[in-house]
Amino acid sequence: EGRCHLLTPLMLGCCVSPQIDKYLYAMRLSDETLLDVMARFRREMKNGLSRDFNPTATVKMLPTFVRSIPDGSEKGDFIALDLGGSYFRILRVKVSHEKKQTVQMESEIYNTPEDIMHGSGTRLFDHVAECLGDFMEKQQIKDKKLPVGFTFSFPCRQSKLDEGFLITWTKRFKASGVEGADVVRLLNKAIKKRGDYDADIMAVVNDTVGTMMTCGFDDQRCEVGLIIGTGTNACYMEEMRHIDLVEGDEGRMCINTEWGAFGDDGSLEDIRTEFDREIDRGSLNPGKQLRWSVGCTWGELVRLILVKMAKEGLLFEGRITPELLTKGKFETKHVSAIEKSKEGLNKAKEILTRLGVEPSHEDCIAVQHVCTIVSFRSANLVASTLGAILNQLRDNKGVGRLRTTVGVDGSLYKMHPQYARRLHKTTRRLVPDSEVRFLLSESGSGKGAAMVTAVAYRLAEQHRL
Ligand code: GLC
Repeated sequence: EGRCHLLTPLMLGCCVSPQIDKYLYAMRLSDETLLDVMARFRREMKNGLSRDFNPTATVKMLPTFVRSIPDGSEKGDFIALDLGGSYFRILRVKVSHEKKQTVQMESEIYNTPEDIMHGSGTRLFDHVAECLGDFMEKQQIKDKKLPVGFTFSFPCRQSKLDEGFLITWTKRFKASGVEGADVVRLLNKAIKKRGDYDADIMAVVNDTVGTMMTCGFDDQRCEVGLIIGTGTNACYMEEMRHIDLVEGDEGRMCINTEWGAFGDDGSLEDIRTEFDREIDRGSLNPGKQLRWSVGCTWGELVRLILVKMAKEGLLFEGRITPELLTKGKFETKHVSAIEKSKEGLNKAKEILTRLGVEPSHEDCIAVQHVCTIVSFRSANLVASTLGAILNQLRDNKGVGRLRTTVGVDGSLYKMHPQYARRLHKTTRRLVPDSEVRFLLSESGSGKGAAMVTAVAYRLAEQHRL
């Protein structure tokens, strides 16, 4: 790995023409740049936490009202809704406490058609309520009023656990009339309207928070939750004394950074490329969350680069087909497939052939190279913002060396053959004085959402007594 910590053509076992390399130069980020991005993000975090700067801050650093990771005493029968990731999932989570705390989960995945994601908010929540009804029917619990934890993977302003005002839609969602509204109220309304079952929504949590809590169940040291999927984001446990927006100075609270917005004010313009800008122009939520080229945009980014290279005769002998020119034809999962070490080149051939460009062996190698550069950049950027969080945790604890666990989830992290390894390596290089364990959340964020709900339920019960 050279100065830029990218695979050099030599390491790819081939020779990619210097012309192509020159082309992608802007996508290579040196450690110096990454350390600079890390410092910039640290400043953004500070702004978001401060009362004076929060209103204009790009990175919102949202208080979540989750104050501790699971302590092992949680128990009960819960429902967890998980909306906003690759799937809409509903889970039943039973936490029992015989000798040891054990968790039993059953889940169903439901479809969320595009027209519902982009239609009216009422329809979206009617759909959620309908799926929940179906799930309860299947579980034969329609007559019970179980506590529900709602994982809603979008930026929400909260002043308590069971309330979440959507700030703005991100990723592939854009249902009308939801921005600015409390999603718990909207869901409650939809459930009441049906009248065939009852539910008690006790908590709304971001997927990062659900992930941190899920992993915290297995590792008490877990104090960061990280998602790398269709979007990317992270949360971590911050000292209350640093959170201006919430009363009190004792203890800690989980902060949902909403780091996907980093750069929305133009502060990362120097590392954006023409391809990023082009994607931004065609986006559903223009100007938002596009500095990262994660899940929703990876494939597109690669496609745009291929189009330009083909136009300049650097690929496919200049052949450009209608398929290659069609938005969405090159998918994120294709990037992962092409980067597989053994069958990657065959996959490249297969995928490019489907696009009708009749690729040569050299074309396949070059395309693999493009994929590597795009995914490497994403891992590098995530490592630098994660690095900022780790430094913050270390300074908060006042220790020389930080020992911590990061709970991770997300389709890209799980599916891409090298993403995880690259992310771990770069993070450790950028924050050398740390011992970071990355823990994959095997069961998604549902278990964590149930844990948050369990704590809320226990507190509510105590209150009622
Ligand atoms: C987007 C959302 C954020 C979520 C992330 C991962 O960035 O704004 O809330 O955590 O995607 O799903």
